[in-house]
Formats: sequence, structure tokens, C-alpha cells
Amino acid sequence: MHPPLTLSKHPLCRQNVQNLQSCHTTNPWYEKWFLGKCNREKWELDECLKLQKIFKAKRNKEKGEKYKERRRERSERAMEEGKKEEIHVLVLVTGSVAAMKWVELIHKITDEYFDDEAHRETTKLCIHSVATNAAKPFIEATEFGGAFPAGSLVPTNDENKRSLDQLRKKKNERNYSNGGGLYDEVFVKLGPFTVDGYPNCVVQNYNDASEYNQSGGWQKRGDVVTHIDLRNKADICVIAPCSANTLAKIANGLCDNLATSILRAWDFTKPLLIAPAMNTYMWQNPITKKHIDAIKENHGKQPFGDGVQFLDPIEKTLMCGEMGVGAMRETVSIAKNVIRVLNDYLQKKKTEK
Ligand SMILES: Cc1cc2nc3c(=O)[nH]c(=O)nc-3n(C[C@H](O)[C@H](O)[C@H](O)COP(=O)(O)O)c2cc1C
Repeated sequence: MHPPLTLSKHPLCRQNVQNLQSCHTTNPWYEKWFLGKCNREKWELDECLKLQKIFKAKRNKEKGEKYKERRRERSERAMEEGKKEEIHVLVLVTGSVAAMKWVELIHKITDEYFDDEAHRETTKLCIHSVATNAAKPFIEATEFGGAFPAGSLVPTNDENKRSLDQLRKKKNERNYSNGGGLYDEVFVKLGPFTVDGYPNCVVQNYNDASEYNQSGGWQKRGDVVTHIDLRNKADICVIAPCSANTLAKIANGLCDNLATSILRAWDFTKPLLIAPAMNTYMWQNPITKKHIDAIKENHGKQPFGDGVQFLDPIEKTLMCGEMGVGAMRETVSIAKNVIRVLNDYLQKKKTEK
């Protein structure tokens, strides 16, 4: 017997499928004869399916080419008018040691995005990065540790550039041991930044205070509400690293900071990628799987792809010295996934128009 038939949706095969299905139910005593007939027809259906696959792949490729062409034309027009198409990537950073890789991740996302020559010519990449309070000390540890070249994130405004240079000179005299001060003073206040070598990239950083008292935050009726504004602007969101705490909050709908408020209001027709990072004991705790399952179930299959996609952690020696699964996967792998999913999403959105 052939396996269950699943081609009934294909209009050309529908009749054949119905015949095949009825031959088993209505004429079981003719099994031998029908078996031969079924096998032949199954073979024909398989051939038909193969052709359909080839046809679909060809049509998708053509659509992709047309999309690229339209994008090129649009960008040429925009360039003539002195404008570029803006693509908004939201990067949420939470309190895992892997937050030390924040600047590296921004770099890798930018590298990956502008690896496509068309992007360099046509678009402006706007990265909006939100750090939780627990993430800020890890981000600062990087800046203090000097793991990145001084110019890796460059303020776009000259006065802010000078302020940053002065802060860098004085960084050893300053005491930011209460955690978070440097992130607020440098990465939020002196923004927006550009990524060294990529003038078409703008990085704007946010903290919880950005909801209220930063320029652009909410003060009175009619003002921008930051978490809704970012939710609306974003084409894609990645949480990297995602701490056990934030994972639990998303699973349960808690929203007591800017990052989780964005996620609580998230538009699940847009892609959301989550890269958990935590100690092996935390990762192996059964509650972690429950939270991941709950997130997948609640936000599961959405109009776009899987709705939420998890970029699972990897095995390595963790900060605590133990070896095990729980470390955030490499930033280059996260960046590649973000840009691949972003491109698919933008292409799908445009072909659907
Ligand atoms: C040195 C240090 C390293 C930590 N690393 C992690 C980690 O990798 N993953 C994690 O889930 N929590 C880690 N934590 C605990 C979180 O920072 C803590 O649960 C925090 O409340 C997370 O807050 P957030 O989800 O709002 O960012 C670490 C804490 C410390 C002090």
C-alpha cells in the first residue's frame, strides 16, 4: 500500500486522490488490482508533485529577482531624492554575562547586513538596542576591559564624540561600580552612534528611563510611548542574550521594564528570535523547557514562519568555570540568523503587497 495521500489540496491531483482513496474503502476485495492501479497513480502524483516543487521554486526565484529589481529601482529613486530605505532591527540585551558581547553582536549584525552590496547602496540600517538594568554592568565590563577598539561605536554628533573621548581618557578615574552608570552616561546619552566603517548604520540605545525622561520619551498626553514606538518601528527583534529571568517573564506575560513591555506588545507577524544564555543548571531546570514551550505555544505558528524562533545555546566552559550547555551561541551565528530571517520577512512582506 502507498502511504497516506496528502496531495488533496493540489487541484490537478484532487480527482486522482479521491479515486485512490475510494478504491480502498469501497472495493477492498479488488485489493490486488487496485494496488497496481494505486501504485501507478501514486507514481504519477509524485511526478506531479516534483514538477510542482520545481515550478514553485522557479516562481519564488522569479519573485525574488523582481523584488530585488523593484528594490533597486526604489533605492535609485530614493538616492536621487537623497533618501534611503530604513530597516529597523531591535536588539534586546538582558542580564547574562553574554551581554559582554553586545558591541560584537551589533558589529556582526551590521557586517552581515551590509555584506549584501544592494543593502549598502539602498538602505539605512537602524539598530535600536534596549538593555535591561541587569545587562548594563556586563556591557560596561566590556568597555572597561577594552575588548573593543575605541572607535567601535562612534557618536554621530561632534560634541558627543568629544565627550566620549574625554570619558574614555578618564574612565579609570571614574567609579561605575554601582553598575549601569556608564551605559546610561555613554551609550544612551551620547547616542545615536554609527558603527565604525558603516556610515549607513545608526545605533540608538535605550534604558528603562528612555520610556519617560530621555528626549523623545513620554511626558504628557500625545507624546511618543517608547515601547509602542519601538514595537511599531521594528522589522525584526532579537533577544540576545536572553536571561532565564526574561525568558520566564515572556512566558508569563510580565512586563516590568522597557524590553519586556516591547515584547508584551509585540506584533507576532514580525519575526522574533530568542537566544537564551544561562548557566547549565538553569538551562537544565525543567522550568526552562516549560517556559520555552509556553512561548512557542502562545506565539507559535504566526502568519510569518514560526512566529518565534529559538537560537539554542551551545556547550562550552561557562563564566562560573563549569563546562556545559547554556552559553549564548556565537554572535556571528546569531547575526547570520537575524539577517537571513529579516531578508525572508521583508521579501515576503513585499511580494504579498
Ligand atoms: C556574574 C553574573 C552572571 C550572570 N549570568 C547569567 C546568565 O548567563 N544567564 C542568566 O539567565 N542569568 C545570569 N545572571 C543572573 C541575572 O543577571 C539575573 O537573574 C537578573 O535578574 C536578570 O535580569 P533581566 O532578565 O531583567 O536582565 C548572572 C548574574 C551575575 C551576577
